[in-house]
Amino acid sequence: MGLIPRHIAIVMDGNGRWAERRGRPRAYGHVRGSSRVREITRVASESGVQTLTLYAFSSENWKRPESERAILWRLLVKHLRRERKELMQQNVQLHVIGELHRLPLDVQEEVKVSVLAMAKNTGMRLVFAVSYGSRQELVSAAHNIVQEVLGGKVQLNEVSEALMEAHLSTAFLGQTSDVDLLIRTSGEQRLSNFMLWQSAYAELLFVDECWPDFTAEHFRGVIESYGKRERRFGGLPSSQS
Ligand code: FPP
Repeated sequence: MGLIPRHIAIVMDGNGRWAERRGRPRAYGHVRGSSRVREITRVASESGVQTLTLYAFSSENWKRPESERAILWRLLVKHLRRERKELMQQNVQLHVIGELHRLPLDVQEEVKVSVLAMAKNTGMRLVFAVSYGSRQELVSAAHNIVQEVLGGKVQLNEVSEALMEAHLSTAFLGQTSDVDLLIRTSGEQRLSNFMLWQSAYAELLFVDECWPDFTAEHFRGVIESYGKRERRFGGLPSSQS
């Protein structure tokens, strides 16, 4: 087995199209998509991935009809309730980034209960990005840093990449906040406001399968192919350096 990406981030795209192509309601695609969340989480954890970040709901997804949003919240709650035991067995730590406070109260509660239950686990960190938008995250970090500078807590010449990172919602990930491999399913080739700072040096992989068709087999293949890529971070190939 080659090098394992420490941090994998996934844009789980294509649930709606997957269902529509089968003449089924979009909700059915989300239901099938949530089964994939289970499977992919297990493979990531077993493969030794340290952090898996899943884009479950973007800040732009609020534009979706209330009925579809309600289905997504129900699925998230159901998923957390159903998977808690297995995630505990896998020693997975759960985190949520994004505007959790915008979610319905009962969903917030369920998320908090699950996060707390898994807080002492020491295995893979599973991060759900919910009502998350990277630009807003960056604006918020800039806002907090300016306040610290104005308050005299930080000097202007101390504003650095490390300080920015310390103000992002992924600060708790420490050294693994940088994404190593970013995957987007469904053939679309966009970042859609996801982990813009954290993905500065990520390997990008766009796969044609819609999320409900992205199997454990595909995922294992992707992890394996990552091990064969050479990441240079702006330097020269290792054979020339
Ligand atoms: C994109 O498909 C997917 C989402 C907006 C939400 C992702 C949700 C799940 C995988 C299911 C539930 C989540 C959890 C965490 C249990 P889309 O609807 O944008 O597809 P489309 O582009 O084909 O319309």
